[in-house]
Amino acid sequence: MPLNYFAAIISGSMKIAIDGPAGSGKSTIARILAQKLGFRHIDTGAYYRWVTCRALDSGVPLTEAEAIIQTAEHTDFSRIDEARIRTQEVSASVSAVSAIPGVRRCVVAQQRQAAAQNNIVMEGRDIGSVVFPDAELKIFLTASVEERARRRQAELAARGETVELAKIQAKIAERDRQDSTRQASPLRKTPDAVEIDTSGLTIEQVVDKIMAIYNEMKVV
Ligand code: DC
Repeated sequence: MPLNYFAAIISGSMKIAIDGPAGSGKSTIARILAQKLGFRHIDTGAYYRWVTCRALDSGVPLTEAEAIIQTAEHTDFSRIDEARIRTQEVSASVSAVSAIPGVRRCVVAQQRQAAAQNNIVMEGRDIGSVVFPDAELKIFLTASVEERARRRQAELAARGETVELAKIQAKIAERDRQDSTRQASPLRKTPDAVEIDTSGLTIEQVVDKIMAIYNEMKVV
């Protein structure tokens, strides 16, 4: 691995793949890791969310797979509207859009292109399994549904929204079910990924664990 490590860093092709379900802490952790390492951070969920926005805006019914694929093919991923993609409307529809194989083919190609010539931390559901099966480091984050629901509730509370815990828990469980049972690239841990259960851990503790694993890659 050390030779691979240095070759990857020097050629700008180091890939750290972070996969896991909604609320496992992927986004925050990937962002901090990328900052620490000076790598580019790519949030692949944002790509599926942006296609969903474009489809909703153009009035394409979410059941019309061909029309959604066309939308994906004409989407400019350099113009993702961060505020818009986080709305409840988009969150409620994105699982259906991301389950369409033609949408995934188009989005995965865009993601590979965004990663080209860069050392990256890429987060999503299928990074270690499909987008970059040859990633130098693969991390699979998990956390109990209860813990993920509590985190989401705290996030909403910080935005002034009060939502019952049981309701959030049910939504997360449903999203897990959709993401891991779909035919096209379901969420799954590959055998070579390191699994970290983030329940009861702080963001800093998880980042430290990943940094320790990453730094081991440099040791001859
Ligand atoms: O991580 P997120 O909540 O922003 O992801 C939004 C949706 O996109 C979620 O339903 C799972 C899907 N997704 C995916 O299928 N593959 C990815 N690599 C990233 C996200």
